[in-house]
Amino acid sequence: MKILICYFSGTGNTQRVVYKFKEALCEKGAEVDVYRIESNEMNFNLDDYDKVGIAYPVHAFNAPAIVLDFAKKLPELKYTKPLFILNTSGEPLKLNNISSIKLKKILGRKNYDLTNEYHYVMPYNIIFRHTDKMAYDMWETAQKVIPIDAEELLSGKTAELDKVLFGSLLAFIFRVEHWGGRFNGKRYKVNENCCHCNACTRMCPTHNITVENGELKFGKNCIMCMRCSFFCKENAIKIGLFEKWKVNGPYTFEKPKVEEENKHKNYCKKSYIKYFANCEEKIKKYENLKKQNFQEESVFDEEEVAEKV
Ligand SMILES: Cc1cc2nc3c(=O)[nH]c(=O)nc-3n(C[C@H](O)[C@H](O)[C@H](O)COP(=O)(O)O)c2cc1C
Repeated sequence: MKILICYFSGTGNTQRVVYKFKEALCEKGAEVDVYRIESNEMNFNLDDYDKVGIAYPVHAFNAPAIVLDFAKKLPELKYTKPLFILNTSGEPLKLNNISSIKLKKILGRKNYDLTNEYHYVMPYNIIFRHTDKMAYDMWETAQKVIPIDAEELLSGKTAELDKVLFGSLLAFIFRVEHWGGRFNGKRYKVNENCCHCNACTRMCPTHNITVENGELKFGKNCIMCMRCSFFCKENAIKIGLFEKWKVNGPYTFEKPKVEEENKHKNYCKKSYIKYFANCEEKIKKYENLKKQNFQEESVFDEEEVAEKV
């Protein structure tokens, strides 16, 4: 089976998930190509693939604008093709499941048939910084669940995420973020810590940061992916109205030697507990099934051997 995964990732979480998913699919014998949406190259031929995947981080309970624009550019298909979605988000609220509604609509009209959708909780790149322990737990969990999901995808079994009531309307309202991002992006500034390394100008997925007369200029095409401020080594970029929510510096995803205090331990507490518990249950169920299959196969082999003897 040949699979194409097209993804956008602002600060690397979704990219991690995509490559782990690719690894899991390849281990099961699939051939997988990965396409970076921001490259804008559209250098693939969909006829070459049996399934298409789209992966993105949830932005204000929606897919980021760059992902919807990409979906609009995808060609209309003559015959239906299975589509799957992978998304990551900072909190495990069910509300995040509405993020794919618009994408499904755009692509459904062009004969892409959404059959499977998988969601992984990964650390926040805005609002607040998750503790290193939480980031480690999230990634450890995702790494265990992804191979199960990949196997399910290949088996042809469908998987849908539960949506909330009035999901389409809510997603429509929250899509104000697409417009708000452009408005807010113009208000980005750098402080005196800026060392003019120009890493932000090189990294920006929409080429929205330019240098004019030695000064950084933020244009009107910001998609609020946070890449510039998140990876700024000098923490010099002020993100307009959302400065208080800024998260600076990548997560290591390693198990911390000393556990720091979790200042947000009550934030969405029940949802996180439920998310980890559900994942744990899924992993156990899968392991038990594998064990059972293995035992059945062994019994079968013994019978076969006995017969031959
Ligand atoms: C502008 C913006 C909006 C976001 N909105 C949500 C949200 O609605 N729900 C959520 O759980 N996480 C939200 N997040 C957090 C990201 O979805 C999460 O950290 C994701 O894993 C980042 O993936 P990336 O590193 O691939 O960009 C938002 C992040 C940004 C930058």
